[in-house]
Amino acid sequence: MAKIILTGDRPTGRLHIGHYVGSLRERVQLQNSGVYDKVFIMIADAQALTDNADNPEKIRQNIIEVALDYLACGLDPKKSVIFIQSQIPQLCELSFYYMNLVTVSRLQRNPTVKAEIQARNFETSIPVGFFTYPISQAADITAFQATTVPVGEDQMPMLEQTREIVRKFNTTYGETLTEPEILLSGNETCQRLPGTDGKAKMSKSIGNCIYLSETADEIKKKVMNMYTDPDHIRVADPGKIEGNTVFTYLDAFCTDDHFKRYLPDYNNLDELKAHYQRGGLGDVKVKKFLYAILMEYLEPIKKRRTEFEKDIPAVYKMLQEGSVKAEAVAAETLAAVKKAMRINYFDDTELIKGQIKRFQKK
Ligand code: TRP
Repeated sequence: MAKIILTGDRPTGRLHIGHYVGSLRERVQLQNSGVYDKVFIMIADAQALTDNADNPEKIRQNIIEVALDYLACGLDPKKSVIFIQSQIPQLCELSFYYMNLVTVSRLQRNPTVKAEIQARNFETSIPVGFFTYPISQAADITAFQATTVPVGEDQMPMLEQTREIVRKFNTTYGETLTEPEILLSGNETCQRLPGTDGKAKMSKSIGNCIYLSETADEIKKKVMNMYTDPDHIRVADPGKIEGNTVFTYLDAFCTDDHFKRYLPDYNNLDELKAHYQRGGLGDVKVKKFLYAILMEYLEPIKKRRTEFEKDIPAVYKMLQEGSVKAEAVAAETLAAVKKAMRINYFDDTELIKGQIKRFQKK
């Protein structure tokens, strides 16, 4: 069986370093690994509209930002099909048929939907489109017969929901769709990189993100203001590692090689942590080390982004070409789905023959 990747992001803002360690970095590796026959990367604008219906302009503005971030990180349209969800009408058709295979109570139990409804104060007035987006996500994944979906762990319930839809479809109408596997990237820290203020998640509205497209000055300011251990006041004081955001980021980004390059007094992160816990190691020194590491990752990304920004029409053209390719694949799956459901009336010569017989006057 062909190995096929599908994944994507909602274009609600520029991508940040949480996206990078949580998915982008690994996505590029998967793309370049040679293991996968096809890689589809989707900008999920239609899904973003399910809770931004009053602000389509925000989505419109951010599609290009996400596309630039993708290219800057090394996603390559020669190796991956990068496309825009709303340009693939087959996804809506598939969703419409899958909706009949899912109950309202099953959607209400979806933990991601539950949490998001709470976070958006949607308790009393959930848009139907938002409520059903797990079904549309199943369409996204199955339309490309994806075997592998590399995403963050927050997407686990979406994958489970997709797998249920696939099983239900296949038992009801015959084997047609592929059951996908989730592929979690990185370690736990990478999956849940907190904001620079130490709060649970990076969020644009709180302003605690470090974006991939940020300038060196902005990054430096954000690192220097990062939340550490509030009780670590003097350098001599012993410091805490748990909940210390600077160390959490080091867990996600730092390798032993970084010590050789920027902090040769230590061999590895364990030694640095031990010194911090003993006392005698100041926050500024650790923050400068983190800044050097972040810049090592972000500088080449930023440089490539600046190059792509010089030819915006080419980026749109890339997205359009990707969308044409993606549509062709989704159309094949939709045809197979309609055939399995036996709603492909005009291609079905057996149907017409049968009806001729039924109406033949003897
Ligand atoms: N729900 C994903 C997110 O919020 C975006 C997404 C939409 C997606 N469709 C998908 C991810 C299909 C993987 C596969 O980031």
